[in-house]
Amino acid sequence: MITRPRILRKNSALRSLVAETRLHPSDFIAPVFIIEGSGIKEPIASLPDYFRYSLDKALKEIKELYSLGIRAVLLFAKCPEHLKDNEGKEALNPNGLMQQAIRGIKKSLPEMIVMTDVAMDPYSSYGHDGIVQNNEIVNDESVSVLSQMAVSHAKAGADVVAPSDMMDGRIEAIRLALEQAKFHTTAILSYSAKYASCFYGPFRDALDSAPGFGDKKTYQMNPANRMSALKEIELDIKEGADIVMVKPALSYLDIIREVKMISRQPVAAYHVSGEYAMIKAAAEKGWLNEEEAMFETTLSVKRAGADLIATYYAKELAKKINQNNAYDS
Ligand code: PBG
Repeated sequence: MITRPRILRKNSALRSLVAETRLHPSDFIAPVFIIEGSGIKEPIASLPDYFRYSLDKALKEIKELYSLGIRAVLLFAKCPEHLKDNEGKEALNPNGLMQQAIRGIKKSLPEMIVMTDVAMDPYSSYGHDGIVQNNEIVNDESVSVLSQMAVSHAKAGADVVAPSDMMDGRIEAIRLALEQAKFHTTAILSYSAKYASCFYGPFRDALDSAPGFGDKKTYQMNPANRMSALKEIELDIKEGADIVMVKPALSYLDIIREVKMISRQPVAAYHVSGEYAMIKAAAEKGWLNEEEAMFETTLSVKRAGADLIATYYAKELAKKINQNNAYDS
């Protein structure tokens, strides 16, 4: 034999030297769920070890994330039931929970990049990402609300707005609305290839945002399709997206790779709530080693081509990466 691939796998030091993919805390975007009130840190049943925070507690948590090397949070606000309606009016309230949270975080920790979910579902009495008329989710009326929502977040100080709705034409509309309102430096992270996935279940528990009727298949993408993902990505880049995202991550690693090959913009992937919950559940039963599963999973998402990874494991990963030899190859 003249080539023996095992030579470079001989020991941990060699494996580390030739590792092709490395995780760094600044790769991660940490999702943060905000609720009204103060002094609250509330567990989420289907997202073990993850919490909804009132703003005061969220600020403490976000400072800790920053000290661990995490540089971006993605905010989700839980809208109280009595403020929900079909038009998502509360989403535009300049003193709404989301807007207060953005201002609070940028004031106490201006260095942290604040990203905001731009979508109507947490505010919709129907739990849909758009306005409902005759049992249909209407596109253009919804895009108008989304553009106003993005501007409202930018006004509050958001660095990045992240539309997660999958309406047609929303990136261009949001970009133009931001330009018109003179927010020339607000970035758009587009959930460009977002599939109609069962893996969002725990997230919808966290925000109480499950659709009241039907499903999201008329706007989110069919898991059977690749070409539609590439088309959505191309459109969003043309329309002005600064970062494009694929979601979920694990069942769509092929899509992440293909998107990375065609995109000149950074590519993000969202390791979603159900993907996190699967690892947690198996670990709880003693069927998987959680730490190893967390690293292997996240590495696979980065190896596939994601420059940024939104993950509920952000804090845990950062902690372990910061410990010496926490993850020997
Ligand atoms: C809202 C939104 C969802 C997620 C992010 N933004 C849920 C949905 O589209 O139903 C899912 C995130 C996760 O499951 O972790 N549009």
